[in-house]
Amino acid sequence: MHKAEFQASWKSPSNIAFVKYWGKKTEQIPCNPSISMTLDKCCTTTKLVAYPCDSQNILYSFKLEGKSKPEFSLRIEKFLLRLSEDYPALKNYCYEIESSNSFPHSSGIASSASAFSALSLCIVDFLKHLNLLRGEFFEIASYYSRIGSGSASRSVFGSYALWGESMNMGSHEVAIPLEVADFWKELRDTIILVDEGEKSVSSSAGHALMQNHPLASARFEQAKSNTEKLIKLLQSKDITNNKVYEFGSLIEEEAMSLHAMMMTSSPSYILFKAKTIEVIDRLKEWRKEEKLAVFFTLDAGPNIHLIYFSKDKSKVDEFLSSLDLKTIDDKCGHGPERL
Ligand code: DP6
Repeated sequence: MHKAEFQASWKSPSNIAFVKYWGKKTEQIPCNPSISMTLDKCCTTTKLVAYPCDSQNILYSFKLEGKSKPEFSLRIEKFLLRLSEDYPALKNYCYEIESSNSFPHSSGIASSASAFSALSLCIVDFLKHLNLLRGEFFEIASYYSRIGSGSASRSVFGSYALWGESMNMGSHEVAIPLEVADFWKELRDTIILVDEGEKSVSSSAGHALMQNHPLASARFEQAKSNTEKLIKLLQSKDITNNKVYEFGSLIEEEAMSLHAMMMTSSPSYILFKAKTIEVIDRLKEWRKEEKLAVFFTLDAGPNIHLIYFSKDKSKVDEFLSSLDLKTIDDKCGHGPERL
């Protein structure tokens, strides 16, 4: 093998959607806009090494936590092939890709957002090295992150991101950073691990089931309207208690709608566990007693994301210790970092 020509490492975070992307058209174009908060600690670090080679095929090796992962190969290969259609020069190299996650692999945390954004950032960095970049670095990274995994498009920006069009902003091809009042950057996300097993239905299969879903158009309209409402709430300078509760009920409605789509698709499926419902019920009772603005959202899985402000952390820790479940403590973060 030739000497390595290029090497880059990027650490990229996961994100939690407050308005959910659920349902897509070809080329990873979403059926509705979505908004997420970028996390801080739940990250993937990826190192890309490129060696000149003239196979005219995409040759690569991939390791996660030092181990080969054939189960991810097909998706990575598809991704690299798609990139090489736009940049044929990528075929003149072979690649060594090594990734590691800051969160446990079996934690049930969706890692495709951090994984594909970290990999895209490395490759876009390589395109820059090859002098092939025409456009803004992070915009192109968001574009290719989207091709890898829709939600990854939002992870290349810190704080909050919008993917899709809303209020004369955004695009369905790339995410954009969403300006929000500083107050909302104080939000934390503690993930309660109700179940650490593999999901029974992947997100990709779930998106596909939206194609002939009888409730699809109502869901896409709801998400569009929630995106507008959320942008207004996050950008308003005048933050009242009422607005905080409006935010809370919006994100909870989004989480429940997402799971309602799964439960009413054909075939239907349930990613909730009994414990998911138990924890949500306990949270609702507890926050009423304590009069605290602590809300929940869910990904496409059974684990609960508790969303609350930093000032309430010690109270939330008391609640969490009463549950006796594993947790991952995270918060609003600053976005990817080149190492
Ligand atoms: C429920 O981005 O994982 O987390 O584009 O097929 O990779 P693919 O799907 P993915 O879907 C994420 C769905 C979600 C909501 C969201 O993050 O917006």
